[in-house]
Amino acid sequence: MKKVLFTETVLRDANQSLIATRLKYDDFAAALPIMDKAGYYSVECWGGATFDSCLRFLGEDPWERLSKIKASMPNTKLQMLLRGQNILGYKHYPDDVVRKFVEKAVEHGISIVRIFDALNDIRNIEVAMDETIKRGAIASAAISYTTSPVHTIKAFAKMSKTFKKMGAHTICIKDMAGVISPQETYDLVSAIKDAVDLPVVLHTHCTTGLAFMSCLKAVEAGADVIDTATSCFSGGTSQPATETLQYALSQMGYDTGLDPKVLTEVNAYFKPLRDCFLESGLLDPLVMATDTQALEYKIPGGMLSNLISQLKAQNAMDRLPEVLEETPRVREDFGYPPLVTPMSQMVGVQATTNVLQGERYKTIGKEAVAYCKGEYGTPPAPIADFLIKKALGDEKPIEGRFADTMEPLFEKTKEELKGIAKNDEDVLSYISFPSVAEKFFKERKEKEERKTRYTIEVIE
Ligand code: CO
Repeated sequence: MKKVLFTETVLRDANQSLIATRLKYDDFAAALPIMDKAGYYSVECWGGATFDSCLRFLGEDPWERLSKIKASMPNTKLQMLLRGQNILGYKHYPDDVVRKFVEKAVEHGISIVRIFDALNDIRNIEVAMDETIKRGAIASAAISYTTSPVHTIKAFAKMSKTFKKMGAHTICIKDMAGVISPQETYDLVSAIKDAVDLPVVLHTHCTTGLAFMSCLKAVEAGADVIDTATSCFSGGTSQPATETLQYALSQMGYDTGLDPKVLTEVNAYFKPLRDCFLESGLLDPLVMATDTQALEYKIPGGMLSNLISQLKAQNAMDRLPEVLEETPRVREDFGYPPLVTPMSQMVGVQATTNVLQGERYKTIGKEAVAYCKGEYGTPPAPIADFLIKKALGDEKPIEGRFADTMEPLFEKTKEELKGIAKNDEDVLSYISFPSVAEKFFKERKEKEERKTRYTIEVIE
């Protein structure tokens, strides 16, 4: 029987895409033993924005959260999303930090690390992948999917071959904007399957309404794993529904390994939570709807709303058509970066500035200058010469990998945090989000002191 496996995303991407990653551990703790019986290939539950959100908004230690999830789901592979050399943020970290982070993530229960780079610069994926393999976890190398004259099927197939040489266990097509079409999916999965004998995973979003069809075509082309979300947390900017695809694919003769009864139970658990978020306004019904603007403008939905709010703030909404025309030109000058964070912001801000100032690149943003220097990695195509000259003047771009210019950071930070950090995990939290972690440590300490005081009072 043909087989296709499922990764459930409700705890990470669905949570992140629909409700800004505000699911608390206590919200979903009781669902974990049920989810453990569903038969998923894996549960994506960590990385991405979950780490930051735990520390910043939820008052939870992300490392403890992970250990607790593992304890409640001993039979399921836990998966995380890692932004290569950026770990979970947007700046580059030295290699010792990247390695320590992966080591600790695996130690706390991660079995699959999905690693990507916003520019598809392999050098930013290498170290994280090497450490993942060393720690005995599954390294899933991800292609940041986008379309442009240089992002051809051939180029992506070549990238997959490189991933395989680096030791990747699976190849993931990561379509963060939900723009991959069913035909493109079919062609791309087929090309990757021809290029390498590795399992292929499709990750997409329902934003533009294509995802269900693309998943089906992916499976027809031989994809091995698809990312889905339990139905009440599916659709819109989230993933397609787990139960729906399980239903459709098993009728087509695929063994999904899933137990439909358990899937119903999982959904029944999350439904009241979804309703609470709808009621509180944290979940906006609009994000669950279909929006095809991204296909029309070739700009991801999130980026388009950023452009609009920028123009509104400057009372210049009438300039939107010009900005929409300028955006692809700026992207071309920048060497066709995939329009994902942080590149979507960088390109969007520059396009808006170019239009509003009435002169292209009269001012160039700080981030864009760093990008031209090579601090984000190598763009898919060369940056336009005139732009490099304008941004850097006589300064030369960095040769080689930006992280190679950085000093080791972990031991030094550990020393600095003596008396504040309880363990290596705290040090990594601090390195990732310094001020947020500092506040979290302080509040944690206050909470512990209150608890001790209370215990003493009760004893006395
Ligand atoms: Co995603």
